Amino acid sequence: MIIPSQKIQSLPPYAFAEMDRLVGQLKNQGVDVIDFGTGDPRDETPKFVRDAATEAIEEYKSAGYPSYIGLPEFRITIAAWYKRRFNVELNPDTEITSTVGSKEGIFNFPQAFINPGDVVIMPTPGYPPYSRGTLFAGGQSFLYPLLEENNFYPDFSKIPAEVVKRAKILWLCYPNSPTGKLATKKFYETAVDFCESHNIILASDECYIDLYFKEKAISALEISKKGVVAFHSLSKRNNMTGYRVGFVCGDSEIINAFKKLKTNIDSGTPNFMQAAAIAALNDDRHSEEMRQKYNRRRELIFEGLRKIGLRVLEPEGTFYIWQRVPDGYDSISFAKRLLEKDCAIAVTPGEWISDTIADGTNPGKYYVRFALVEDEKRVAEASQRLAKLKL
Ligand SMILES: Cc1ncc(COP(=O)(O)O)c(C=O)c1O
Repeated sequence: MIIPSQKIQSLPPYAFAEMDRLVGQLKNQGVDVIDFGTGDPRDETPKFVRDAATEAIEEYKSAGYPSYIGLPEFRITIAAWYKRRFNVELNPDTEITSTVGSKEGIFNFPQAFINPGDVVIMPTPGYPPYSRGTLFAGGQSFLYPLLEENNFYPDFSKIPAEVVKRAKILWLCYPNSPTGKLATKKFYETAVDFCESHNIILASDECYIDLYFKEKAISALEISKKGVVAFHSLSKRNNMTGYRVGFVCGDSEIINAFKKLKTNIDSGTPNFMQAAAIAALNDDRHSEEMRQKYNRRRELIFEGLRKIGLRVLEPEGTFYIWQRVPDGYDSISFAKRLLEKDCAIAVTPGEWISDTIADGTNPGKYYVRFALVEDEKRVAEASQRLAKLKL
């Protein structure tokens, strides 16, 4: 008999399974479901990025293993982008390393710093690899809720002193998935102070950094490089989820330990994918077009939601809408209502992507998440269906 490890056995079942089943059932009945469930962009990777990858396959004829820290040209391009975008200087040799998409970096990162009994502090709702990476590194997760009344920021005063004492890493994610909140300079200053005074690494997941609407999203590294690292990805910025390319940058001591870990895990992102990432990062015009595209989609959905009397909390960034459900519903019953045949829109119930915290509440219980990954025509159709919804 094969018995999976205790860690594997402790993992909860796949959260989206029930929604997948319901969506599948409707599709089998010929219902046209508009799917805002998973956050994987369905738009094409830009042609100039695909061309750069194609050309690079020829350039790197003898494949060989890629550099596990990233090609020098890739790291130089990242440093130039950081300077242009955030006015932060980074040393390509000591302050940057590539990752196989940011998921790999986020999941593996705690292994470089966590000993048994150490704590990692993270948001809920939040990206699952924060807690899964902590579990596999032998650490313990402490979840802080993202609440509207607290601007979807952590309330540092509510983290017990005993947790703070044992904490080694704090995860932040702004532009925030799923709430769409951006970090202000003041908030990052508070977070950096908190981490510095308690000797905690500030790990800032900035994978949605170029998807912002009114205010420009900022990087935590604009406040400080000391004790801070930022995780970036080409996935959402350039529709490159399938390319598996990202990077971590910041404090050289932290980057150094992480590089040491990574030589033992993977052999880097293929060179031709790094070449595509270089082309993508050198181009800012395309990310502006992406913002405009997502902005149009958001406006369309806002229109539909407002027509049925819902208060819309306009996200400041990302391609998500974190929508408060109408009175009389919770996240699951509202998601199921949206999925009924007269509407046939799939969203993610907030409760499925949030955990119940120590006080017994679940911060996602009264929210649903729309991931605006369908094209504009489909989003317009969804908006009309929403506008007609009888609650
Ligand atoms: C908040 C957040 N961080 C990181 C990632 C990882 O993206 P990737 O591994 O494609 O870079 C995702 C992907 O959905 C995400 O939502």
